[in-house]
Amino acid sequence: MCGIVGYTGPREAYPIIIKGLHRLEYRGYDSAGVALVNENDGLHVYKKKGRVADLEETLIGANLHSHIGIGHTRWATHGEPSDRNAHPHVSFSGEIAMIHNGIIENYAQIKKELLKKGYTFKSDTDTEVLVNFIDDIKQNNDCTLEEAVRIALRRVVGAYCILLVHKDDPETIIAARKGSPLVIGIGKGEHFLASDASPIIEYTKEVVYVNDYEIAIVKPDELVLKNLGNDKQTPFITKLNMDMAAIEKGGYDHFMLKEIFEQPNTIYDCLRGRLDAENGNIIMSGIQKYAEQIINAPRIIIIACGTSWHAGLVAEYIIEETCRIPVEVEYASEFRYRNPIVHKGDVIIAISQSGETADTLVAIEKAKEQGAIIVGIVNVVGSSIARTSHTGSYTHAGPEIGVASTKAFTAQLAVLTMIALKIGYEKGTLDKERYLYLCKELAAIPEKAELVLKLDDHIKEIALKYKDVPDFLYLGRGYNFPIALEGALKLKEISYIHAEGYPAAEMKHGPIALVTNTLPVVFVATKDAYHGKVVSNMQEIKARKGIVISIITEGDTASPPLSDDVIVLPAADEIVAPMLSVIPLQLLAYHIGVAKGYDVDKPRNLAKSVTVE
Ligand code: M6R
Repeated sequence: MCGIVGYTGPREAYPIIIKGLHRLEYRGYDSAGVALVNENDGLHVYKKKGRVADLEETLIGANLHSHIGIGHTRWATHGEPSDRNAHPHVSFSGEIAMIHNGIIENYAQIKKELLKKGYTFKSDTDTEVLVNFIDDIKQNNDCTLEEAVRIALRRVVGAYCILLVHKDDPETIIAARKGSPLVIGIGKGEHFLASDASPIIEYTKEVVYVNDYEIAIVKPDELVLKNLGNDKQTPFITKLNMDMAAIEKGGYDHFMLKEIFEQPNTIYDCLRGRLDAENGNIIMSGIQKYAEQIINAPRIIIIACGTSWHAGLVAEYIIEETCRIPVEVEYASEFRYRNPIVHKGDVIIAISQSGETADTLVAIEKAKEQGAIIVGIVNVVGSSIARTSHTGSYTHAGPEIGVASTKAFTAQLAVLTMIALKIGYEKGTLDKERYLYLCKELAAIPEKAELVLKLDDHIKEIALKYKDVPDFLYLGRGYNFPIALEGALKLKEISYIHAEGYPAAEMKHGPIALVTNTLPVVFVATKDAYHGKVVSNMQEIKARKGIVISIITEGDTASPPLSDDVIVLPAADEIVAPMLSVIPLQLLAYHIGVAKGYDVDKPRNLAKSVTVE
């Protein structure tokens, strides 16, 4: 939530900041703003409700000369999206400008104190309270901005990544983080700051991931990191393993479509170097280190949100089947607040594309304190969840920019399947023959995903046929039940059509009342142990004149006569089939969203990385 960018160095800051904001816009797009400090005439702040492009347009022709700047793209938490609530916020004295990603939980108390002192506020934000609190401390203690930030942050409860500039200092950015990400790119005589590496990659591959409770004092040729106790910390420089093409659209109309079409490659990249199907080897060093503990775990708890939670549900079926370890799948937001029972030795699998989801992060911190072993399945390298986990495995799907998660989901499934097969085989709950067979089935998925993508035109036709209906129902059983949930989520997010996912058999306990001759019911009905049962469920829908769109496996002759529209997928074992059956649902949502004229990469009210609770 919210994207932040900063630059200090010899170049013009504004173009770097604006470009960076465009790259980070997936994190929030309610408003955008920049603060620049000019060596001759001080601080200038420009901000506007709406997209980064709207801000840019208003600044055409303006004199934006400056070698230092900070920029923000907002996902509103406190106060509606508006010009006055847009960041940067400037302190009452007019001296300090600040941008913020996160939530200051005790801002109301601090605001009360400042109001008593005569401060007034122009916005409804917690950020404006914090920048005034910092300025107040600076003036009362006659101290530097860095010291004032340190004193203020000792009082702050909540999550933040903040960047501050002072009107009289055209060189220094003060930055600090707790719970919200911050990466600093190290250039030659210049520094770049951002919420993730995408604004930085063009200029340098050397970065420092700032840790919680650290303050960075950033000048063109100096980076000093300190903790809140004012002790210097050694910056740990990491090399970025990402290229520019990964963060551009590459000829596709939208990032979402590009990312859907990347799946054969991303799944392949995820398996590459880990799965040797020919010889039946799965090499995952992070998992191997903790294999003993996982094999002997009394239970596994999977914690995630949204699409990642759906990947967790699929994993529950796979792990219980292959490893015979009880699995619970939890919404991170529920788990963290309900005093959960966690025993020493329990294994927690945290799944997250961004690695920054606040609920997931706090949930695993809590479980860690109680003695659980945390295995992170994360896409963004160096992210907070990856660093908080004891061990884990990256999904290697590359940057996912479309707000709707697509390629990250299939990569999560690929990693989770490898873990389940490895643990099941080592534990002896998965016999050699089935293990070898499943390894081969998994290795064949990238090629089969290519075949599924060839159905794009057919899926687009189906999308155009149903784009104006108000509701959809998605049904599936077993491994396909979470895929039904995921299909419904994709449609809701992208096309704003109400959709519900349900276990196919559960439908008769209520949702069947919704069925009329105008309700499309999407059956995720690929061949598995329950296929006959799903066909019976289709019959029940057809008997009530519902519209059936079925996603089936080649060779299925029972479903087509019951279906109004059919999408036929290549055959795959039920354990790996979800990686294929989700693709038509992603495409269906995409084409409906585009046909309705929506911005599918930036759906309303959403943000890619949910760093607030
Ligand atoms: O980055 P994470 O995987 O932790 O994010 C979890 C959810 O916020 C995310 O999956 C969300 O539901 C997406 N919009 C789904 O497309």
